[in-house]
Amino acid sequence: MTASVRRVTFVCLGNICRSPLASAALRHLADEHGVADRLVVDSAGTAGYHEGEGADPRTTAALDRHGLPVGHRARQFRAADFATRDLVVALDRANAEDLRRLAPTPEEAAKVVLLRDFDPGSPADSEVPDPWYGNDDDFDLALHLIEASLPGLLDALLADDGPPASP
Ligand code: 4NP
Repeated sequence: MTASVRRVTFVCLGNICRSPLASAALRHLADEHGVADRLVVDSAGTAGYHEGEGADPRTTAALDRHGLPVGHRARQFRAADFATRDLVVALDRANAEDLRRLAPTPEEAAKVVLLRDFDPGSPADSEVPDPWYGNDDDFDLALHLIEASLPGLLDALLADDGPPASP
């Protein structure tokens, strides 16, 4: 039997800092595990401030420092996107709340999860802090927190019964 493809979108506020980091890091992890063909990964922002722009230069620099591929175009997450995603992964609680409000149906709202809830070492409801007002260390911290959550997320995405959904 052919394993089904899971479609996941990471969502932060501007889609130029945290969610592009998460997207690049999950693609890389999936490559390492030989499961890249089972995932479709992208990212978006709850806001459209930076629609069409590339990643923030500090995001690009952090990806470079970690040997991760760069290549991104910012876009706003739309209500219609829920229908084509299995899981919508928010980087912080405000993003998660905004997404659940945007969801056209309760079933689609239930696709929204918080990234750090997949890190067994972090307390429930932990966030990836916004590095926008920060420096390179804040971007490295964001990537570190993201990477700690990705093995759990990848396991959940590839589980036979599909991704979990939280209320
Ligand atoms: P992100 O960071 O949500 O991680 O992409 C931000 C990027 C831009 C802004 C805020 C946060 N902004 O206010 O323009």
